[in-house]
Amino acid sequence: MDSILVTGGAELRGDIPIAGAKNACLTLMPATLLTDGPLTLTNAPRLSDIQTMTVLLQSLGAEVQALQDGRVLALSSHALTSQRAEYDIVRKMRASILVLGPLLARYGQAEVSLPGGCAIGARPVDLHLNGLEALGAKLDLRDGYVHASAPKGLKGGTIEFPFVSVGATENVLMAATLAKGTTVLKNAAREPEIVDLARCLRAMGAQIEGEGTATITVEGVDTLNGATHQVVTDRIELGTYMLAPAICGGQVECLGGKRALLEVFCDKLEEAGISIEETPRGLKVARKNGRINAVDVETAPFPGFPTDLQAQMMALLCTANGKSTLHENIFENRFMHAPELMRMGAEIDVHGGTATVTGVERLRGAPVMATDLRASVSLILAGLAAEGETMVNRVYHLDRGYERVEEKLSACGASIERVQGS
Ligand code: UD1
Repeated sequence: MDSILVTGGAELRGDIPIAGAKNACLTLMPATLLTDGPLTLTNAPRLSDIQTMTVLLQSLGAEVQALQDGRVLALSSHALTSQRAEYDIVRKMRASILVLGPLLARYGQAEVSLPGGCAIGARPVDLHLNGLEALGAKLDLRDGYVHASAPKGLKGGTIEFPFVSVGATENVLMAATLAKGTTVLKNAAREPEIVDLARCLRAMGAQIEGEGTATITVEGVDTLNGATHQVVTDRIELGTYMLAPAICGGQVECLGGKRALLEVFCDKLEEAGISIEETPRGLKVARKNGRINAVDVETAPFPGFPTDLQAQMMALLCTANGKSTLHENIFENRFMHAPELMRMGAEIDVHGGTATVTGVERLRGAPVMATDLRASVSLILAGLAAEGETMVNRVYHLDRGYERVEEKLSACGASIERVQGS
């Protein structure tokens, strides 16, 4: 298993190009299942999660071709051979559940393995299933699989989610495009990835209104056609690289970044004393001399502070002047990076969903273990600012969500290298 070796201390200067959003691409790819026509996605990120979704779609008989070095994905579901998503693939990636809605909507049946738990919490899929039932699907949970059917097709309905779920909104939104009649999704997720999905579906002929607000209305159509769609910028990759100069000092321009993708996050960075300037090329981030201010952060669905940036923000606050608090409201077990940061000299107290971080002058390098995707990159960021060497072990999580992280950071002067494991 590979590790990443980081030697801290260098200020960062340069440009970092931000890729297309992993989480958008993972919901845009299953949209191919809704149509016979070709779906082309440009600005796709090159990540192992995208590869996993490719394998899943291919296992159903879809064609998926990676063109232009993986930047463009050409998908076609004109000759599907199966409506069953096997456990062996689904267990690798929870987003696999996103094939359920499209398969059911187009074929009237689907069998999808239940994804099971994951490192950051139980993460059930009940909201996905309840939403599809509200569209008339019959569901049966047997042998670890969801057996879903709608022999006469799905019917529009009104669904009020009890709390915001990105994945459930995406699954039900895709299904509703081919349901008969009108579907209203209330308390829908408003994430930019949902807006991106709705845009793509509309280009395919779907009738959708209200994406980006809490109420989305879908008028079902009989068939959808192919389309070409550009994947939205990855706001989590953007926020992660904005934190690099914030932690290490220096100035980095994140190319393709837009403040509107991360308004609350940008406000918090500014409160901490980081300067952010929106330029025609992206977002320019700089840290002035001196320690940053402590700030309080609370994760929330969009437009709130993203849970996927909580670990990286904690790495920044470890060296702030004073006490910061981080409240994690989305996932119940998302502080596993805290004990690893403490191995580097951070002072962190975790009680339930709240972490209190008392800033220290400087972190010290140490061997640490990556426990999940965002935790692994938070340890890299911490290592870049720490004194001495940090070896981040078990970085296979990192490759699920960050492409060429060593190249992007070393181009700005960071000392970071991948150590091949056995
Ligand atoms: C997506 C993102 C993930 C991000 C998360 C929250 C993708 C591929 N992943 O995950 O990176 O951290 O949004 O912004 O886009 N829940 C239920 N029942 C359900 C569904 C969700 O209880 O049926 C709970 C989850 O356990 C969690 C909360 O709802 O506590 C929000 O999860 P959700 O928004 O659904 O996250 P994902 O779509 O899985």
